[in-house]
Amino acid sequence: EVKNLEEIFEARIARDEKIEPKDWMPEKYRKTHIRQISQHAHSEIIGMLPEGNWITRAPSLRRKVALLAKVQDEAGHGLYLYSACETLGISRDELYEQLHSGKAKYSSIFNYPTVTWADMGAIGWLVDGAAIINQVPLCNTSYGPYARAMVRVCKEESFHQRQGFEIMLTLCNGSPEQKAMAQDALNRWWWPSLMMLGPTDAESVHTEQSMKWKLKRKTNDELRQQFIDQTVPQAELLGITVPDPDLKWNEETGHYDFGEIDWDEFWQVVKGHGPCNKERMSARVNAWNNGEWVRDAAIAHAEKKQNKKLK
Ligand code: ACO
Repeated sequence: EVKNLEEIFEARIARDEKIEPKDWMPEKYRKTHIRQISQHAHSEIIGMLPEGNWITRAPSLRRKVALLAKVQDEAGHGLYLYSACETLGISRDELYEQLHSGKAKYSSIFNYPTVTWADMGAIGWLVDGAAIINQVPLCNTSYGPYARAMVRVCKEESFHQRQGFEIMLTLCNGSPEQKAMAQDALNRWWWPSLMMLGPTDAESVHTEQSMKWKLKRKTNDELRQQFIDQTVPQAELLGITVPDPDLKWNEETGHYDFGEIDWDEFWQVVKGHGPCNKERMSARVNAWNNGEWVRDAAIAHAEKKQNKKLK
């Protein structure tokens, strides 16, 4: 019987139908979605920290309003994604436990420090730029709740990317010191942004199956090439230099060739040894612990209301 169900499921995937929470799905499909959607949700929540670091020091009221809105959007993205993940039969508490105990992964990119205001520009421009390239294909992913969450997330990511690019543009049109800050931020964020799109296709353990299930619609290397092709002309427009001496337009392929990525650095960061992994995790765990009284009070209040109704 399972074989029959599996055939029906595969046929639905082939027809590009959405799979919904109550539909039959192979256990591995469910598990791999829980893995990817929860990692994605955790990345949004941890991703609030590097930029949260600059809210109190934004250089003007206008910049502060935009940054505040962006960080709040990231909280919202995390919440839609946790909700989408819960439809697969895992509780929010379990998901949080996995994050707080260090069992769950989240994106490598958020383990780098934000040392100057230009980092707010570089993150919006590069990190959110890479996120859009990775997430637009996910609007078309096979699992309904994930695909629908991605539509709104991508609209908001476009605003984030624009606000980042505009910060870079302002710095690049400013004083020599400001332009140097923009260049320094590009130097530090370029390579981690390329790594963010995941290991090469040859090293990516999940890509083949995820492509078959139409969870992923493009491979890590395809997304990385698209990101580079799109971003290099933007750096030229800003008048700053991508820190890769091997970067070169290739007439034949119609793409940029680029230098070797330091995959040792990537795996070190993924395994918890990046510059800010400990700081990020402790900020998250402290926030959770310090919020305990709020959760307890909310539960006590809900119970009191419920009891009143029952009487
Ligand atoms: N940071 C941390 N871990 C990573 C990263 C990364 N940048 N890229 C890959 N990995 C992990 C994978 O999670 C996987 O580990 P696991 O088996 O323990 O789960 C392992 O490295 C091997 O990688 P892949 O086989 O390539 O994994 P996958 O097919 O899931 O592809 C990708 C990785 C592209 C990140 C995919 O999961 C994805 O598209 N996720 C949704 C988008 C997302 O999470 N973005 C987060 C940052 S965007 C933002 O928050 C603004």
